[in-house]
Amino acid sequence: MALRRFDLDAGGSSFAFKPETEEKIAFWRGKYPADKQRSAVIPLLWLAQKDNNGWLSEPAMREVADRLEMPYIRVYEVATFYTMFRLQPVGKFHVQLCGTTPCQLRGAEDLKEVCTKEIGKPMHVTDDQRLSWEEVECLGACVNAPMVQINDDYFEDLTPETLSGILSRLRNGADAKSGPQVARVNSAPEGGTSVLTDPALYDGSKSRLAELPNLPGAAAPPPAPPPAPKVEPEAPKPPPADDLKRINGIGPKFEQMLLDMGVRTFAQIAGWSQETVVSIEAKFGFKDRIDREKWVAQARMLAEGRIDEHDLIFGRGKD
Ligand code: FES
Repeated sequence: MALRRFDLDAGGSSFAFKPETEEKIAFWRGKYPADKQRSAVIPLLWLAQKDNNGWLSEPAMREVADRLEMPYIRVYEVATFYTMFRLQPVGKFHVQLCGTTPCQLRGAEDLKEVCTKEIGKPMHVTDDQRLSWEEVECLGACVNAPMVQINDDYFEDLTPETLSGILSRLRNGADAKSGPQVARVNSAPEGGTSVLTDPALYDGSKSRLAELPNLPGAAAPPPAPPPAPKVEPEAPKPPPADDLKRINGIGPKFEQMLLDMGVRTFAQIAGWSQETVVSIEAKFGFKDRIDREKWVAQARMLAEGRIDEHDLIFGRGKD
């Protein structure tokens, strides 16, 4: 960074904020607690610069230091560090010309020649006190390179001709239009937008809710496919029938009658209650025979596989 010195001759011996600036000073000071007032040093220096025709005199810096109860050297340090604070007089319109790479590649050197020719050396103030200029680093508008800042406004997409015209207007007391000096809006493409140009993108039609099948009033859902043919589950197969004639007392006739009644196994007969026994005998047309011949006990033995024991006790039934 270049050494930056005060212009002590031009600054006079005193400085006072404009009365209307006091409200702004109070605003900035109000942002910080009482024991941190020095945090407002940059905004107060900025206000002092504005009230001092665009630059900071040494008395202006002292006034800021007194307001914030700071040592003068602390305020000098801030003012000489930041290039946004100018330490010597400038013209009514001060041009900050960006010379950083994007602007340099896009023609900043030609703009410097214009400034030198029409204003003079950097920081020179024209005799009418209206213009001065300096080169600065990137001002954050690279997409609109090359560009300059004049007081608080950006002038972008410049050519030597357009910059010359702007300086001429300012010198002569006319207004100059800030912003891009070509046919584009802000940083939009020159000549107008070339993509996303479908008006439907901006009329809200694309943001309508999609139709959901379950919304009230929505179209009827498509018919359901026909139901698949019903497949009846296969009836469980009955367990294989035992040879009920192995029970002594049951012959072929009674066996068939039992099968017709759904009695097919020894286990079924082993589970008969007395009530069932009475009911079966009623159907067969006899009385107390089942108990007497112990069909239930025989059936239990046969169901449990105690064949020899059965045959020994009851004898083998008719095969
Ligand atoms: S390089 Fe010029 S504005 Fe960024």
